[in-house]
Order: sequence, then structure tokens, then C-alpha cells
Amino acid sequence: MFFALKKQLKRIVRMAEKRLPEKTFNVLYRELFSLYKNMVPYAYLCSKGPTKFLKNGQDRWSMAKNIFHVMPYSLVGVCGLEVTYKAVKDVCERNIPGDLIELGVARGGCAALMASVAFNKEICGKMDRKLWLFDSYEGLPEPTAMDFNPELGSGTGEHVRPLPKGSCPGQLDEVKHLMFSKNHFPRDKIEFVKGWFEKTVPVTKKEIQQIAVLRIDGDWYESTKCCLENLYDKVTSGGYIIVDDYQSCYGCRRAVDEFIQNRSLVPVIKFDGRGGCYFEKA
Ligand SMILES: C[S@@+](CC[C@H](N)C(=O)[O-])C[C@H]1O[C@@H](n2cnc3c(N)ncnc32)[C@H](O)[C@@H]1O
Repeated sequence: MFFALKKQLKRIVRMAEKRLPEKTFNVLYRELFSLYKNMVPYAYLCSKGPTKFLKNGQDRWSMAKNIFHVMPYSLVGVCGLEVTYKAVKDVCERNIPGDLIELGVARGGCAALMASVAFNKEICGKMDRKLWLFDSYEGLPEPTAMDFNPELGSGTGEHVRPLPKGSCPGQLDEVKHLMFSKNHFPRDKIEFVKGWFEKTVPVTKKEIQQIAVLRIDGDWYESTKCCLENLYDKVTSGGYIIVDDYQSCYGCRRAVDEFIQNRSLVPVIKFDGRGGCYFEKA
């Protein structure tokens, strides 16, 4: 039911984009997107309801409840959120050392999901980890030529909506409110790094010893490339690299593929089923 609803809404948006004048489309898109954002968390939770009655279903139900709570603050789809939840839980359960990083935080939903696992003593025990959150809080920068691939399509990827400069913005105060007032995560375990990745990541990486989960969600080629080049070497063996836009943004995919090729890596890339990918570091 949940995926059927999502598919229908996407179809309506794509049809409308082709047939309506830009201004009318933008108004309709805003309305539909807000309807979608309001309905989706409930549809998702209902679809997961029966899992709590299944043998060993408590884990899945608990994941669904955590995801339900962060969905209103996240642009990441359910599949990407599930992958992220499972990756953080997995490194905790296997005692893979290292911090958790998200680059591209926006309103903080996915970051809050990572925190909800990492700072839950029942799941993560006593391992001391920090959560590092990087964002410009100015939305996306302009895509560059590397984000376009005329062989694949006319735009920058398979987006439901256009993504001009400034798209997907969040506000640092709002993220802090979500982390500390709504959720009471430990203040001394969360580091906020505000600014463009290209400036902040090369400097801040000196403070980061090891990474257990590196989550990259910056959409474009240059942003993804910068994150990989500066932080990949800090990821512990057995840790995860999650790239939210691998299948949906041409430039993001190009940055990942180039990186893998330049380093002669042979990762087993898995897909989240909605546009993202992830792999475990050997
Ligand atoms: C798709 S949103 C992230 C969604 C978020 N993970 C969530 O849970 O909703 C992408 C974010 O990356 C940030 N961003 C993209 N490129 C960046 C860059 N080069 N430097 C800093 N922030 C960047 C934007 O400000 C935007 O908030």
C-alpha cells in the first residue's frame, strides 16, 4: 500500500510537470509534496504494523517506530532510512569502532535516526561514538558540468523535482532543536560543522580518528568527491559507506565510480531500492 501510494503520486507529479506551465506546476508540486510528507509516515507505520506480531518482528517494529518519528524531518526515502538504521545498528552490534558522519543534514531527520540508534545503550552498549553533522545550511550549491550526462538524460538525474541552487535547505537551530529538545541526545556527542564541504571537511577531518558509518547525502559530483577523498581512508574495516544519491544523481554516481576506479577498489555495492547505495569497507 505504501509503495503503491508513492508510485501514484510520483506519476502524477511527472505528468503534471510535462503538461502544466512552470508556475502552476510549482504550486501543485508544493501542495502534493506537503500532502505526501504528511501522509507517508502514517502509511509506512501502518504497513509495518503486522511485523510486531511476527516471530522476531520486534526489531523491525522498533526500526519502523524510529523511522516514523524522523520522517517529517527528512528528505531521505524510507528505503534510505532503513539502510541507514540497519548500518548503524550493525556496526554497533559488531563493535566496529568509529564515529558516525552525515554530510548533507538538511533538517536533520536522518541524522536523528542515526543518533537514535548510536545513543541507545540497549543497542549500542557503551562504545563511545560521536556523530558529526556537516552542512552548509544554505541548501545545495549549483550543479557543475560534471553533474550532467546527456547520454543518460537532459538534467542532473532522476529527480522527482528540479534541484536548483538552494534546494533542500535546513537550519542549524532547527536541527539542534530536533536533537536536544525533542530527542534529548547527549550534547557532548554531537558535532555540528557548518559550511561548504570543500572548506570544512579537509580541516575538520583532522579531529576525526575513525569512522564506522560514512553517510554522504550532498547530491552533486563535487560534494560527493570531496567527502570520499577526505574521509574514505578514515572508515574502519567493516564500516559502511552510504551514498544516498548514487542512482538518482548522475554526478554523484560519477564521483563514486571514479573514486572506486582510481583506488582500484572492488566493493560489493548494494542498492537501497530508491536511489541510494551502500557498501562495507573491506
Ligand atoms: C538532500 S539534502 C540532505 C537530506 C538529509 N540527509 C535528510 O535527512 O533530509 C542535501 C543537503 O546537503 C547540503 N549540501 C550539499 N552540498 C553541500 C556542500 N558542498 N557543502 C555543504 N552542504 C552541502 C545541502 O545544504 C542540503 O541540506
